[in-house]
Amino acid sequence: MSPQDYAAAHADRFNTKLFDLVRIPSVSTTPELAGEVKRAGQWLVDEMKRIGFPTAELIATAGHPIVYGEWLTAGADRPTVLIYGHYDVQPADREADGWATDPFEPVVKDGVLYARGSTDDKGPVVAHLNAIESLVNTDGLPVNIKVIFEGEEEVSSLHLGQFVAEYKDRLSADACLISDTSIYSAEQPSIVYALRGLAYMEIHVQGPATDLHSGGFGGTVHNPAQALAEIITKLHNPDGAVSVPGFYDDVRPLGKDERDEMAKTPWTQEDWSRATGLTTPWGEPDYSLRERVSARPTLEVNGMLSGFTGTGAKTVLPAKAMAKISCRLVADQEPRDIYEKVKAYVAQITPPTVTSDVRLLHVGDPALTERDSTAMQAAIDAYTQAWGRRPVFMREGGSIPIVSDFQRELGLPVILMGFGLSTDGAHGPDEHFRLDLYHKGTQAIIAFHQAFAERSRT
Ligand code: BES
Ligand code: MN
Ligand code: MN
Repeated sequence: MSPQDYAAAHADRFNTKLFDLVRIPSVSTTPELAGEVKRAGQWLVDEMKRIGFPTAELIATAGHPIVYGEWLTAGADRPTVLIYGHYDVQPADREADGWATDPFEPVVKDGVLYARGSTDDKGPVVAHLNAIESLVNTDGLPVNIKVIFEGEEEVSSLHLGQFVAEYKDRLSADACLISDTSIYSAEQPSIVYALRGLAYMEIHVQGPATDLHSGGFGGTVHNPAQALAEIITKLHNPDGAVSVPGFYDDVRPLGKDERDEMAKTPWTQEDWSRATGLTTPWGEPDYSLRERVSARPTLEVNGMLSGFTGTGAKTVLPAKAMAKISCRLVADQEPRDIYEKVKAYVAQITPPTVTSDVRLLHVGDPALTERDSTAMQAAIDAYTQAWGRRPVFMREGGSIPIVSDFQRELGLPVILMGFGLSTDGAHGPDEHFRLDLYHKGTQAIIAFHQAFAERSRT
């Protein structure tokens, strides 16, 4: 039996495995759920051992554990693939976030699995194990495999960078394969070659020493919530461009080849409207919607906090206000440099009636991957086989901070070979994953390992 036939024959069992994993609420940002994150990591280790991994272990960090495995029996003449994925998920609350069903109880409707983590990133993670199992139980592994499954991706990979730097030699490989991005459509696969970076900040504005009676002091004290709103308003020009001086200085312009490629993945205003429920787009006017959301840097307000927000009324003049702000960055912007620029600009536009402070919470570098490596050729072969259609190259707007570490520390070509759709509702309510794409993804991973082994023969 071929590995492809094996995977097809075991599709039902592969579904059940994924259902088991999404039942574990491994929300990395919630301290009370740390035990569940660990349980999901242990579930993966157990599953890897069951498949036959000679090495599979849960490695403790100061945060959530790293799942690490090795299967190096293909031989020294065969290439080694480092697989990365994450088993932590975003928070999900059925009532508060408006899920139709329990986010941690898998529900299949019309061939679509609904559950937190189904598309981001448990489905793709289990697809990798399915592909390995299918190879091992038929032809044998054509490549050597190293696996890192992380439990802290959704909280910006707090401890993985150090692990990668420390275990540089042990992690050596010929390519890194990651399934944590989307494809253009269910029919048209795409390989992501650029991800954005991130600089996540808080702006704190301080007014009076304590909250004041708004009747006694309003009209004489510059309300910090008001002052913060004024500051935020000045972070963009009226046309939607970021107004922080120097913000765009290091943006590498798109090449002609990239523009031609981008034309193959249009994102029309109708597509955008369907996804957002809105009618009128906003943002840099000189750039297409696709370009704005993937190849241009942005600055977003992620949240604001000030004063009284409980039920009813309280006539208070708040002492302080805070906003969470993040910038998505593109090559060759540097997160710390952007932070310095935002900080300097906020200091400049802060009115003399209040004080402000900009704090950096976390950073992630943008990533651009090589498009002409042997591994990339293998990925093109793999999608072409599984989808019957050649993949196109695409940039995506999200971030996977560890990608740049893999490139820098390990010197590896990174292949971003995902299987979900951008409309799967990752991070939102009713997150879902099409089971046909889960199985096609499994087929594509099998084909990748075969093609990479084949193309690496000298
Ligand atoms: N899988 C996403 C990254 C992603 C999203 C890639 C959309 C391509 C398109 C990942 O799990 C994620 O959500 N990353 C965070 C990183 C952050 C917490 C540092 C993100 O992009 O917000
Ligand atoms: Mn993800
Ligand atoms: Mn995510």
